[in-house]
Amino acid sequence: MRTLTAIAEVRAQVRLWRHSGKRVIFVPTMGNLHAGHLSLIEAARAHGDHFVASIFVNPMQFGPNEDFAHYPRTPERDARMLREAGCDLMFMPDVAEMYPHGEQRATRVEVPGLSSILCGEFRPGHFEGVTTVVAKLFHIVEPDAAVFGEKDFQQLTIIRRMASELCMPVRIIAAPTVRDADGLAMSSRNQYLTDEERARAPVIYRTLQVAARRLSAGDQDHAGIERAGIRALESEGLRPDYFSVRCADDLAPAQADARRLVVLSAARLGKARLIDNIQVTR
Ligand code: PAJ
Repeated sequence: MRTLTAIAEVRAQVRLWRHSGKRVIFVPTMGNLHAGHLSLIEAARAHGDHFVASIFVNPMQFGPNEDFAHYPRTPERDARMLREAGCDLMFMPDVAEMYPHGEQRATRVEVPGLSSILCGEFRPGHFEGVTTVVAKLFHIVEPDAAVFGEKDFQQLTIIRRMASELCMPVRIIAAPTVRDADGLAMSSRNQYLTDEERARAPVIYRTLQVAARRLSAGDQDHAGIERAGIRALESEGLRPDYFSVRCADDLAPAQADARRLVVLSAARLGKARLIDNIQVTR
């Protein structure tokens, strides 16, 4: 596996591969890798010949009171895990390489509407930071396809919209959420939980499952399902930002008879903000 920090070197390597007819698949991450990230590389395998992963903790997507400075950074371990997973190139730029004019004055990519609902309501500017850095990474890596986790369902939806509307020649592939044995979706931010909080955290997934079962059984009382979800999370001491039944295609509030649904939730627990979702087709 090659480890590169310069944009020009990544371009040169990927262009060599593509000129020899190989398909290049890209997995963007912020590092501190776990089995969820590795499952994206595994999913990439079916779609291409060479695999590129990026590791970049993107300052633009963190709010002023968020955890940019403390976000866990484990580059040596990440490199080892990527090599073992069969990754061919790890791109690990520094902030100056990605934002030569400073992050504040950088050109931005925004997907309006989708970026200001759900998590966007509680993290203003977050998704603009995500779409900006992903657009830049796509221009640097020029992959045939890129893999994103369904764990971050709103992010996946926004990136699909961006790629489509900006005519980016990159196919977006979704990979299912990887969970711990008790159902908690894997996340670098789970490390912020104390042992006692970690024991309570699976209530998010359990509560989403209850909602999904009601929807699958034909229950159309979305407002009632949402209220029950909020109550269940609060009863375990979590502080939910939202628990919401949405249309899986565009995240609009779901019509009573909608067929492709997703239930999404974000909740605070101690120092962590946890997110999860379940898709339902009925
Ligand atoms: P990060 O949180 O590191 O996640 C990188 C990718 O891994 C995302 O596509 C995310 O959805 C996926 N992922 C994380 N946990 C997962 C799990 N438990 N199961 C399956 N997939 C999982 O998301 C970001 O970084 C950033 O916003 C990024 C897209 C890299 C832009 O900075």
